[in-house]
Amino acid sequence: MDTKTIKKTNEPKPSEKTGCPNVLAINASPHRNTGNTAEILNPFLEGMRAEGANVELFCTEDLAINSCKGDLFCMIRPDGRCIHRDDMDELILKIRNADILVLASPLYVDDVTGPMKTLMDRMVPLLQIFIETRDGHTRHPLKEPRKRRVILVSSCGFWEPDNFDVLVAHMQAFAKNITAEFSGVLLRPHAASLKGMIAMGAPVQDIPDAAREAGRQMIRENRISPALLETISRPLVPRDVYQQTSNQHFMEMTLKLHQDAGKGPGCQNGVL
Ligand SMILES: Cc1cc2nc3c(=O)[nH]c(=O)nc-3n(C[C@H](O)[C@H](O)[C@H](O)COP(=O)(O)O)c2cc1C
Repeated sequence: MDTKTIKKTNEPKPSEKTGCPNVLAINASPHRNTGNTAEILNPFLEGMRAEGANVELFCTEDLAINSCKGDLFCMIRPDGRCIHRDDMDELILKIRNADILVLASPLYVDDVTGPMKTLMDRMVPLLQIFIETRDGHTRHPLKEPRKRRVILVSSCGFWEPDNFDVLVAHMQAFAKNITAEFSGVLLRPHAASLKGMIAMGAPVQDIPDAAREAGRQMIRENRISPALLETISRPLVPRDVYQQTSNQHFMEMTLKLHQDAGKGPGCQNGVL
């Protein structure tokens, strides 16, 4: 899946004119398009494209996005212009025109990566400074009301799917915060196994296939079936086998680090 570096472009056509939904995907993995998160994100976006969606993909690693200074001027200004002059100048136009935002991030300390959180903070100019009560909760209304969906794609290192609980709760809250509908989560636990197993020709092709079909379904039906989501998250190996092979890999990494540093294999139990 091609990623784009951001440059001054014509504002994307509103989807009402083209009849196809605008999908803006942002991958916040430092491994960009070659990481574990991309193993699920890319087929998902391929599926969306196959159903006619206008899909654009950016990686935060290729973007310069400064952290929010907290002055709230962007919320007060009708054009939402932030004090920073950086890649968010262009990206915010694409976010404004997106019908579906696909936010992809590996799980870092139980949540999104730092660059994804910075990006989420910098979406605040979509909102008015004024507050109202909606569904019994204080909210900032959108400056430009628009039906928008948020979908989360994530991968993590630990074995259990419940490692994503905090992240999913955060994304649900974020979607409410920007008045969007939270429309699905594609989660891949013990994700390191997937790449290796695909490379070995193990029978795991059902996982990227399910991600592709999830993309198609999302565009066709505005939903993703629980069966597809379950396949994407399904166990690849038993937990004890995963721990054993992971620790073996970590031991090899540790030994290599020692050898590269000219210290020889002098580590005990993986401790440097
Ligand atoms: C700084 C850091 C924090 C991480 N925190 C967690 C964590 O809390 N739980 C977990 O299961 N995996 C954690 N991981 C592992 C990543 O989520 C996992 O390797 C992920 O699949 C990487 O995706 P990527 O290849 O797309 O970057 C962490 C990795 C790093 C580098």
